[in-house]
Amino acid sequence: MKAIAEAPSKVIITGEHFVVHGAWALAAAIPRKSRVEVSKSDRLRVSSDRFRGANHPALRAIARVVVAMSKEFSFSPSLTVAVSSQVPEGSGLGSSASTMVALSSSLSRLHSLRLSLDEVIRFSMIGEGQIHGRPSGIDSTVCARGGVILFTPGTSPKQVRLSRPRSLVVCHSGITRSTRRQINRVSGVKEMFPSLFAGLTESASEVSLMAADLLKKDDMKGLGRLLNFNHAVLSTLGVSNRALDRLVDLLLSLGCYGAKLTGAGGGGSVLAVAPEGKEKSIISGLKARGFDAFIAGIPVKGVESWLER
Ligand code: MEV
Repeated sequence: MKAIAEAPSKVIITGEHFVVHGAWALAAAIPRKSRVEVSKSDRLRVSSDRFRGANHPALRAIARVVVAMSKEFSFSPSLTVAVSSQVPEGSGLGSSASTMVALSSSLSRLHSLRLSLDEVIRFSMIGEGQIHGRPSGIDSTVCARGGVILFTPGTSPKQVRLSRPRSLVVCHSGITRSTRRQINRVSGVKEMFPSLFAGLTESASEVSLMAADLLKKDDMKGLGRLLNFNHAVLSTLGVSNRALDRLVDLLLSLGCYGAKLTGAGGGGSVLAVAPEGKEKSIISGLKARGFDAFIAGIPVKGVESWLER
């Protein structure tokens, strides 16, 4: 008998980094998934098509989540854990959060624990904390809950209901980077300019609340302008770079309403909002220039799990 769980990945629409320091951020689950299969075994074996090498931090983090859950719920940690993912590591699309959420959900299913989504998120955060240092929890929350959420640490996330499905354009810069290093870089800016940073954090909250409102009203042009604004502010923190700025410019020149880095920055992916019906030609334009780009339809469901013989 094995338990399988699949969790979506995510994009941060607005408010990344500032959310670590208490701002509201807006995030959406996207259809690229991570899948975890768990079954009982004679010892703990973890394998992955993405995280390679026995000492890979993500594999160690997976083992840590297994051990933590086995202690709390008194089951044997001797398990085979197989991870596969449609999300490249370090792409800013939540590969680790999506994996950790699918992992805790599959363990809950295998041992009939019936964990709530909050508990699935709590256990996934043990792995996320080991990998990223001090994450806000937004990645795990949106990968577990699905949909589009407004999130700030320490309060219940708010689901943002869309009046109809929408499409976002996602383009990978081809550069991978460490989220932990990016978070530390921003903390350095906060230490250097505390009052300036407090003002930026407040304004990031305002941007996210407005972005949620515009998305609800289906005002994609307005949302695009906020993405541009948010990218400019993130650049001042030093989390963008020339490659990302050029990619943002390219997306705008292809006709997008707005574009910005998404996630930790420094590489990873860029998110854009395009006029309806133009998404496919924009993706073709990006692919013609060698980028890995795709249309992410939202909203999508959160984590799902089941048993198989
Ligand atoms: C990463 O997807 C988003 C960051 O804000 C980190 C976090 O919130 O944990 C950069």
